Amino acid sequence: MPSVITPTIDIHLSGDDLRRALEQDVRTGLTSEPKQLPPVYFYDDRGSRLFDEITRLPEYYPTRSERSILDAHAKDIVMGCDADVLVELGAGTCDKSRVLLDAMQSNGRLSRFVPLDVSDTVLWEAATALSEEYPGLAVTAVVGDFHHHLDRLPADGRRLFAFLGGTIGNLDPAQRRGFYAELTRAMTSDDRLLLGTDLVKDRSRLISAYDDAAGVTSEFNRNVLHVLNRELGADFDPTRFEHVARWNEDDQRIEMWLRSTGDQRIRIASLDLDLDFRDGEEMMTEISTKFSPDALEAELEQNGLMVESMWPSSGDEFLLTVARPR
Ligand code: AVJ
Repeated sequence: MPSVITPTIDIHLSGDDLRRALEQDVRTGLTSEPKQLPPVYFYDDRGSRLFDEITRLPEYYPTRSERSILDAHAKDIVMGCDADVLVELGAGTCDKSRVLLDAMQSNGRLSRFVPLDVSDTVLWEAATALSEEYPGLAVTAVVGDFHHHLDRLPADGRRLFAFLGGTIGNLDPAQRRGFYAELTRAMTSDDRLLLGTDLVKDRSRLISAYDDAAGVTSEFNRNVLHVLNRELGADFDPTRFEHVARWNEDDQRIEMWLRSTGDQRIRIASLDLDLDFRDGEEMMTEISTKFSPDALEAELEQNGLMVESMWPSSGDEFLLTVARPR
């Protein structure tokens, strides 16, 4: 039995960096027309718990759907990639990583796991747990974000970059191009990308996945206002904003917005910023782009990635794609 290897953690993002990014994102976003906020600020402790609840809602199919593909095909997927290093972008609690790690282990090809996340506490916990669960596995956790730190990852071995959960759909087309550019710059010809994307489907199913009957998504959406209150001394009353989820047909994406009920003036003390919201004014908090397999393949090809295989869920709800650099 191989012995447990103590995990290491590489920190490329400090608390100060995160703070500066928050201040800049909020100032830029809330002085734009329409107002908008990046979705990364949903995920404080409460937001992460709410998201976890979302993944178990009857209406929210993507997590279960992706999981069913992994359960059925992880072995074939990792066999085809022949990787010995798993890099997981936005790893969080590393739940899905275990399915891929198990598959790589049973193929006898597992040497290193590199989870990347912006949250150091979650990452450190997961890294410690995983090195104990997988004796002989070197865990190199990286605190960073997938826009800036892909070139700082350990470069040895044949790497499988997993970007799961449909998170790529939270990026707009320009941000996705930036991501592919960073990624292909970091990848060697032996590396592979495993990408999870939600698929276009019946519009009412899409909308209810983002507007559930129990109101969890509404709480999740408004949680960003609690975050701004706490982190930036803002005085939002979250009960005076309504959750809106709608399908944008032109851009093939679900959009989440927060709609002001009544005219209100909000002060953000740390930014010395006063903002007016008109009655009914909406602020965009998240996009969640949905793909067709053909559109995704075309997008990947335009960005230097060739599709090797596609693994749709039963009922074509969700898609895993393996691609390699051209
Ligand atoms: C899993 C982060 C991609 O867009 O479906 C769930 C987040 N937002 N419900 C998604 C989310 C509202 C989610 N991601």
